[in-house]
Amino acid sequence: MTLLSPRPDLWTLDPEVLHLNHGSYGAVPRRTQEVLAALRTEADANPMAWFRSVAARLTASRLELASFLRTDPAGFALVPNASAGVTAALATLPIRAGSRIVLTNHAYGAVRYAAERFARLHQAQVVIVDVPLEADDESVVALIAPHLDNAAALIVDQISSATAMVFPIAALVEVCHDRGVPVVVDGAHAPGLIDAPAADGADFWTGNFHKWPAAPRATAGLVVAERWRSATLPLIVSWSEYDERLPERFDMQGTYDYAPWIAAPESLRVLDELEWPVRRTQLSATIDEGAKIVAKALGTGIAQIARQTPTMRLVELPSTVDLTAGEAIKERVSRDLKAEITLTGFDNRGFIRLSIHAYNSLQDYQSLADRLPALL
Ligand SMILES: Cc1ncc(COP(=O)(O)O)c(C=O)c1O
Repeated sequence: MTLLSPRPDLWTLDPEVLHLNHGSYGAVPRRTQEVLAALRTEADANPMAWFRSVAARLTASRLELASFLRTDPAGFALVPNASAGVTAALATLPIRAGSRIVLTNHAYGAVRYAAERFARLHQAQVVIVDVPLEADDESVVALIAPHLDNAAALIVDQISSATAMVFPIAALVEVCHDRGVPVVVDGAHAPGLIDAPAADGADFWTGNFHKWPAAPRATAGLVVAERWRSATLPLIVSWSEYDERLPERFDMQGTYDYAPWIAAPESLRVLDELEWPVRRTQLSATIDEGAKIVAKALGTGIAQIARQTPTMRLVELPSTVDLTAGEAIKERVSRDLKAEITLTGFDNRGFIRLSIHAYNSLQDYQSLADRLPALL
């Protein structure tokens, strides 16, 4: 198989900076930026005409995005981000007083806050299940299952943020549904990394297109199982409130910038140009190498995770690094090393979470390895 070359030319990223954290906010390719800019220009040339055109264009965009996820378009709605998707799911589920909302200790902080808000509203309780970093699929299910009694929902990452770990969604859905517990899947990182991420039968699945598919920011999807579709409402009450169809109900969110949702399919075409499935496999091999180079330079190791994310790796920080200084360290790395990285913590262990996308090459990780030890 031929090795695909890195394509930084498709992006407008500052070449003076090492961009090693695609996982947080993504990066929008030039072509998509151009489509987005043209849409906004059109909107400002004639706002009335633009808003008249939005509904039909959103329908077309939704169909492409749903097809990318290989999901039924009738159950697929657009939301601004995964946070909104999880919030809409929690607002739909019946949460009885005294019941429990179950998450794991890998859950994204803001998603945990959402669970806490809805638990407070309904006099329910949030339960956090500890899942070790090294747990395999069977252990993950075995650890969560005993906490499902009287659960209003399990909220589980498909790919966790701090630990870049892939969770066994199909098995968790099965065990939850056996006990009548609805499942909300936080698939923020899943589009582009898992081929049919919403196919495992969860009650709600949400994921960001602005991460790995590199769509314009504020483009995410919410996939709702048939039994919940009529009850699921967008967070902003607007003219579509009484629309019987879920996707259309979520399309209208008042006067809003709909251009990113309409431009998003352009990024799917960029993925096609990148030969994405083949490239993703090659990127995995490159980041394996890159993470080893960084870990060697720091004198540490790579987190051993049973099911790794294709495009992210956790490199252990030296034990001398004070995790509470994480924000200050990231700023110094950005300012002094001209590198963008993110640091994560789990179980009192600190990691650099390295990402890779089509604009990165192995040399990027070598450059970080050359510079980082002196700063830490
Ligand atoms: C696992 C996970 N869940 C939820 C989110 C929230 O995504 P957003 O900020 O787009 O709402 C993120 C963001 O990185 C995430 O990684």
